[in-house]
Amino acid sequence: MRVLLFITGMLLPVFGEPSFSHKRHASLNLECTFCHTGAVTRERAGFPAWKTCHTCHTGKAEQPIPSQRIYKLPDFVFFSHARHATAQVDCTSCHGNVKKQAKIELYRSTKMAACVDCHKENRATVVCNACHELGQ
Ligand code: HEC
Ligand code: HEC
Ligand code: HEC
Ligand code: HEC
Ligand code: HEC
Repeated sequence: MRVLLFITGMLLPVFGEPSFSHKRHASLNLECTFCHTGAVTRERAGFPAWKTCHTCHTGKAEQPIPSQRIYKLPDFVFFSHARHATAQVDCTSCHGNVKKQAKIELYRSTKMAACVDCHKENRATVVCNACHELGQ
């Protein structure tokens, strides 16, 4: 059994399968920030550590929680969750309704055109330096 669990733990990250389903936890009505503690106050939303899961899954041994990284920007792009939260841009605008997703699916593209389109719609900045530190 231990060996099997170990092997599963090794394989999950390889196949990119999450060991956490938002859909399955939806009825608990947890705040997103219960697990993604930086989502409204920091640049990064971040991922939960096992001890966060352990508040409910007390009987279980620690296990890795692989993330898929569906949403990932290159390092040269500046993005801040806090900045968008302050502007009242809801999580669903960019990530869709994750509570219906057993496995996270890309809702809004993270390509430059998708950022710029929404910025134009909302009269937010499209100045290059807002998202890139060009010429420095
Ligand atoms: C607030 C309590 C709570 C927290 C926090 C929580 N869970 Fe759960 N989890 C549940 C409940 C309740 C179920 C059963 C839901 C159902 O299947 O109807 C469940 C089901 C599961 C299942 C599927 C059933 C199983 O045991 O095989 C997995 C896997 C799981 N949780 C992983 C996690 C992980 C990983 C975390 C941390 C990122 C986490 N959970 C955080 C309450 C919680
Ligand atoms: C109980 C903990 C928990 C709660 C509550 C929770 N999440 Fe998550 N979330 C996770 C875990 C664990 C992962 C990593 C697994 C994965 O990628 O599916 C994750 C992944 C994600 C991702 C994918 C990141 C990526 O690039 O792959 C998004 C987006 C996300 N969550 C948004 C939300 C939103 C929005 C809410 C509130 C509606 C929320 N989450 C509530 C635990 C949680
Ligand atoms: C304006 C679009 C937008 C909004 C609004 C937004 N996100 Fe994100 N989210 C992103 C982008 C883009 C990334 C990739 C960031 C990176 O790689 O630096 C991301 C990454 C994430 C991740 C992966 C971990 C991380 O920090 O990179 C989680 C989890 C997440 N978001 C949750 C949330 C939650 C919860 C909310 C609402 C409180 C939210 N997001 C609001 C666009 C958004
Ligand atoms: C759903 C709409 C939406 C999407 C998608 C979006 N943004 Fe924004 N963004 C906004 C709004 C609204 C503001 C706040 C404008 C204000 O307060 O003046 C903002 C502000 C910003 C700021 C701060 C700009 C400043 O004035 O200093 C940066 C940087 C930023 N966004 C980067 C990004 C990047 C990078 C992406 C794509 C990965 C992105 N945004 C996607 C709506 C969006
Ligand atoms: C609202 C945010 C935002 C603004 C404004 C913005 N960019 Fe970007 N840019 C991004 C994101 C996100 C990426 C990475 C994703 C991609 O390649 O589309 C990117 C990628 C790039 C790349 C690399 C493209 C590639 O193919 O690798 C260049 C070059 C670039 N931007 C130049 C600019 C210039 C020049 C401006 C001003 C005219 C600008 N950007 C304005 C968000 C922005």
